[in-house]
Amino acid sequence: MKKFLLGTNWKMNKTLAQGLAYSEALMAIIGKYAQFEFFIIPPYTHLWKMKEALAAQKSPLKLGAQNMHEQDFGQFTGEISPLMLAEIGVDIIELGHSERRQYFNETDEAVNKKALAALKHGFTPLICIGEQQADKDYGVSPEMLAKQLKIALTDVPATAIGQFWIAYEPVWAIGVGGTPAATPYVEEIHNFLRQVLIDRYGPSGQAVPLLFGGSVNINNASDYARLDNVDGLFIGRSAWEPDLFEAIMAAVGAVVK
Ligand code: PGA
Repeated sequence: MKKFLLGTNWKMNKTLAQGLAYSEALMAIIGKYAQFEFFIIPPYTHLWKMKEALAAQKSPLKLGAQNMHEQDFGQFTGEISPLMLAEIGVDIIELGHSERRQYFNETDEAVNKKALAALKHGFTPLICIGEQQADKDYGVSPEMLAKQLKIALTDVPATAIGQFWIAYEPVWAIGVGGTPAATPYVEEIHNFLRQVLIDRYGPSGQAVPLLFGGSVNINNASDYARLDNVDGLFIGRSAWEPDLFEAIMAAVGAVVK
């Protein structure tokens, strides 16, 4: 059975002590929800300790990094390489989050290079795409998203299907001040993205996991999760407390097959 993906990016939040307390609590909860594949994406500095904590409990909780440089080593001060993350045993590499694009000039081309490097090193790239409010207002969201997706997946072969995930996160829906997306809009865009993947890969495009994110919360999570082409939810603020995250698991658990 293909599991529904449920995970959270902490962004630049939680000290190590807070992060460890959170993951202990989460590991205790997730055993109750076999229908989900769970992942957490803490800051880099937490990854070693987190990995140790997960391994000590043989937890199925997957661990991700929030970014990665595409080179194995070199003169790139402040960057972290695939070899370093592989040594820790990280599973997922989040790429192209809107905050990386907005504040750190991450481009579609860079996301593509990083995605190829992540696949080469055996990680699961979690490639984030999303349109701006202005794109939506001009009615060009599909074009913008298709461009981001096609560039990110350049040279990514069909044999990699299943090893990479796509998260659609409308920029205007993300974070404090974001507006949750209407369910029919999410449905329309996810159906569109599925078609882009099928055009690119043929019928096997159907098997690429498509997650939704951006102000996912207890009130809207199950509505999004019910949609045919939503294979997971990628949650920020509403998953940063284990009990609030568990409320979402319970709500979504009632609707996913
Ligand atoms: P949010 O963050 O759920 O707090 O809006 C989502 C994200 O940035 O992935």
